[in-house]
Amino acid sequence: MTEPAIRYELIKEEKNTGARLGILHTPHGSFETPIYMPVGTLATVKGLSPEELKDMGAEIVLSNTYHLWLRPGEDIVEEAGGLHKFMNWDRGVLTDSGGFQVFSLSDMRKIEEEGVHFRNHISGEKLFLTPEKAIQIENALGADIIMSFDECPDFHHSYDYVKNSINRTTRWAERGLKAHQRPDDQALFGIVQGAGYKDLRIQHARDLVSLDFPGYSIGGLSVGETKDEMNSVLDYLTPELPKDKPRYLMGVGSPDALIDGVIRGVDMFDCVLATRIARNGTCMTSTGRLVVKNAQYARDFRPIDENCDCYTCRNYTRAYVRHLIKTDELFGMRLASIHNVYFLLELMRNVRKAIMDDQLLEFREDFFERYGYNKP
Ligand code: GUN
Ligand code: ZN
Repeated sequence: MTEPAIRYELIKEEKNTGARLGILHTPHGSFETPIYMPVGTLATVKGLSPEELKDMGAEIVLSNTYHLWLRPGEDIVEEAGGLHKFMNWDRGVLTDSGGFQVFSLSDMRKIEEEGVHFRNHISGEKLFLTPEKAIQIENALGADIIMSFDECPDFHHSYDYVKNSINRTTRWAERGLKAHQRPDDQALFGIVQGAGYKDLRIQHARDLVSLDFPGYSIGGLSVGETKDEMNSVLDYLTPELPKDKPRYLMGVGSPDALIDGVIRGVDMFDCVLATRIARNGTCMTSTGRLVVKNAQYARDFRPIDENCDCYTCRNYTRAYVRHLIKTDELFGMRLASIHNVYFLLELMRNVRKAIMDDQLLEFREDFFERYGYNKP
């Protein structure tokens, strides 16, 4: 038996919630969890250099198999020496499998036992993706953590549909495990689906756990259900997952959902929200969202967030960032992105400290109050 690619070390569970503080050891460094992973879909976190990401304290970024398969092609990334070398990032990388992107970006998809037929969302070309093909691409890309090929059914799809779907996703996960060529330096996670059906979620978790993946992802959330619905799935799902493996909640990254996910035992998160809203001038701050584009900031010479230590807030004003965003200047998008990514990384640093101090519920209360989540 070779050593597994990653190792999760549970440091402590918070006294009141059971939230986990841990260390994830990967082939590209060890870092504390819970963690937020900035999204670099096309092998770049839009607008930010690896040096900037490191300065902010980012430890691992997410990239997308589907996008890199289409452009530039996994063969080119492999020839470059893998994703880390290609993008000049020597910390952690995680790739999503393409399952979700096929469903959210392409049209004309047809699901079969063998795989999924769909059209390339750029060229319109007909393509076919299978669990084996997804793993083969992920092996070529070379991320530290890779995802099984899954189907993400609608949260409100019928019970019978979701039941068939999770069983197929389990078979796809097994096929992925068999196809995986690099288990000693890439950790393949299984993805738990099951929409909002408690028995199906639990059954799917148990089926995947019996396949003994080195980590488990929770998929099919933040797809249009309410926050209460998401939290209730996490409430009954995370107790099914092994304590000695990391849990990753896919595509979730609003500040409230991060905190509520950690409280329910989640260790890893990713979301495009921070960078996406930054590019049109919306910033997350300690007192809630600030739409820096708005006229009221034209002569506001304070930093975006007076409580923030990011590069943007240490050096620039709301008036300046507003001016750049209004005039479509690239630097404005960069400054807002730096702030938003820093904000979520800092939030998770504070969450980890609150776990250490057994103060997570107090931290949540205080954060929600100031951010404005408690307003009617
Ligand atoms: N990203 C966000 N949700 C999902 C999901 O359910 N599956 C996959 N593969 N990626 C996701
Ligand atoms: Zn800032």
